[in-house]
Amino acid sequence: MRPALLRTLKKSRDTYVSGGKLAKTLSVSRNAIWKHIEALRSLGYKIEAVPRKGYRLVSVPDRLYPWELQHALPTNLLGHAIDYHESIPSTNERAKELAIAGCAEGQIVVAEEQTAGKGRLGRGWLSPFAQGVFVSLVIRPRHVVLADAPKFTLLSAVAVQRAIAQVCQLETKIKWPNDIEMEGKKLCGILVELGMEIDAIDYVIVGIGVNANIALDELPDDVKERATSLQEVVGHRIDRVKIVRSILHYFEQLYEQVAQHGFATVIELARRLSSTIGQHVRVLGQQEPWEGQAIHIDDDGSLCVRKRTGEVVRVQSGEVSIRAKHT
Ligand code: BTN
Repeated sequence: MRPALLRTLKKSRDTYVSGGKLAKTLSVSRNAIWKHIEALRSLGYKIEAVPRKGYRLVSVPDRLYPWELQHALPTNLLGHAIDYHESIPSTNERAKELAIAGCAEGQIVVAEEQTAGKGRLGRGWLSPFAQGVFVSLVIRPRHVVLADAPKFTLLSAVAVQRAIAQVCQLETKIKWPNDIEMEGKKLCGILVELGMEIDAIDYVIVGIGVNANIALDELPDDVKERATSLQEVVGHRIDRVKIVRSILHYFEQLYEQVAQHGFATVIELARRLSSTIGQHVRVLGQQEPWEGQAIHIDDDGSLCVRKRTGEVVRVQSGEVSIRAKHT
């Protein structure tokens, strides 16, 4: 009912729609329409009501409400079940709970704010209310063998890179394996977590955090040095709903391609969009950090780094920091 009422109001944003017409179109009483209008107002929708004219939608709140995300959602699989929260500790943790409880593939979890957002390598992820995109996807890639699971990090990065290009007309780069950055400053982080059965993947949680409209002066100094936000780069607020829809669209497109043809295209795109290849990098993982030159992303998704001794090491997981431009 609420989505239908909103759709009708959105279709005629420049004019008033009478209560009688809304009641007839939606097959409910005028009183019911009034109640739904009040409910929408309490969710932040600004709706004008003028006697003898009717209702007019004035503005839509900056919220990731499921019915907003699902409006013209161009996917078959992703985002048709949405678990929405104003505030939650972590969308990845919630997605994991849903996956373990048996939710269908394509479920997503969205929050306006995370109070214990998780980053990679045990770090946290700053998630201020309604300023970023905090979303987790549940997929169940039965066709993918365990050894290929790390490639989902690259797939996710390519999907987010494309979504940002589409919505913000901004060409960002991927810092291996899955940070999205602009001129060396991080715009988005991705945390992929796996659930296993005895010998197969049960579920993959893809957690995506985009610094959409985060005001930089609110960030701690150490974060500010390394990160930025889309709003800061493009100079205006970003429609977070469009970002989520677009991420789901590109993720699904690449996911379908992987199901049919494997990861080759994803890897090739990740190479093309990489800011890491050709750079002098410091490799941070489980061992002591070490340095070398990043020369290639291998077909298995690992980063090939040449040490000063000439030895080429394939880095499969972990993180790199880029040291200085290599010419
Ligand atoms: C990184 O360290 O770069 C990864 C950050 C991933 C953050 C996202 S926000 C949505 C999802 N929920 C979490 O708790 N983390 C991921």
